Amino acid sequence: MSLIANLYPVMKPWLFRMDAERAHEWTTRMMRMAHSFGLLTLGQERLPQTPVEVLGLKFPNVLGLAAGMDKSASAVEAWAALGFGFVEVGTLTPRPQPGNPKPRLFRLPEHEALINRMGFNNPGIHSAVQRLSKRRTQAVVGVNIGKNFDTPNEDAVQDYLKGLKAAYGVADYIAVNISSPNTKGLRDLQAEDSIRSLLSALKTEQSRLAQEHGKMKPVLVKIAPDLEEAQIEALARVFNELAVDGVIATNTTINRAAVVGHPLEQEAGGLSGAPVKVRSTQVIQAFRSLLNPGTPIIGVGGIFSGADAQDKLRAGAQLVQVYSGLIYRGPGLVQDVLEKVARGL
Ligand SMILES: Cc1cc2nc3c(=O)[nH]c(=O)nc-3n(C[C@H](O)[C@H](O)[C@H](O)COP(=O)(O)O)c2cc1C
Repeated sequence: MSLIANLYPVMKPWLFRMDAERAHEWTTRMMRMAHSFGLLTLGQERLPQTPVEVLGLKFPNVLGLAAGMDKSASAVEAWAALGFGFVEVGTLTPRPQPGNPKPRLFRLPEHEALINRMGFNNPGIHSAVQRLSKRRTQAVVGVNIGKNFDTPNEDAVQDYLKGLKAAYGVADYIAVNISSPNTKGLRDLQAEDSIRSLLSALKTEQSRLAQEHGKMKPVLVKIAPDLEEAQIEALARVFNELAVDGVIATNTTINRAAVVGHPLEQEAGGLSGAPVKVRSTQVIQAFRSLLNPGTPIIGVGGIFSGADAQDKLRAGAQLVQVYSGLIYRGPGLVQDVLEKVARGL
């Protein structure tokens, strides 16, 4: 195991005593510094790679970093050095915004879970695009786009179009986030009529941009786990009709059933980690059975081990992503997942 993966269990109790958001900022800074000294790969016996071709892109392996961890695209090279085959940066909005008042990120260690109501704090898409234009990594980079908190839903399509246009030149794929629970009304965009008009506009713009850039870049949609069967069917129908390139399932949940009685249960926001694992796998399964067979799914939600990643792949995902698992397990999770996948399903 790499030096950094061995160090994490020693540092974790200290990090967990720190405010969650400060710990996140501190570790990202340290990771960037460690990377500049070549320390992230130190002691890392070559991680087993199982390259895959999905979405017309060559991924060095199936494991990605989920959106929200690197909202500003400040450490893409460092994440790749930890072993991630792809990194999804963002969510990025057209204009920079500070997000919700702090505190807005909470740990529930008893449940290996997090609750966050960050509210798309980000430096704005143009700042991230500038950074990404200088990137030096083999890893695939996805850019996750959203709308500003003060853009009314009637005008949301304009924000997503701005995001798509800005990101198109530097992204390998674009993820359309309509499933965060922390921007008022955002998840209403998942309603059949709203999603149809949003995605029609984005698909038209995608074709235009493909001509302009001489390259087609896939546009994926990231969905919530809190969808009823009829809503899943309606979404899949629209995705098939409009030939959406892929689906990311799932975002965080607003359901608190798994953490009832916990002192932080009532904190507003999205719950992630172990409590969302089963539901996210169910949503993947449901979409797999409804989507056109060639439409890939990125599975995310509660992956804490190689076995959890395999569950998502068996449920029908072609790629997987982690967020909370990395907080609770550390960089050793990357090796665990890559080894399991290399040994086969
Ligand atoms: C603190 C935090 C911030 C997040 N921010 C975003 C975001 O900006 N955009 C997004 O699409 N998903 C965001 N997510 C959701 C994750 O990408 C992921 O879909 C979700 O946490 C489930 O995966 P996990 O159980 O591995 O954490 C965030 C999650 C957390 C915990």
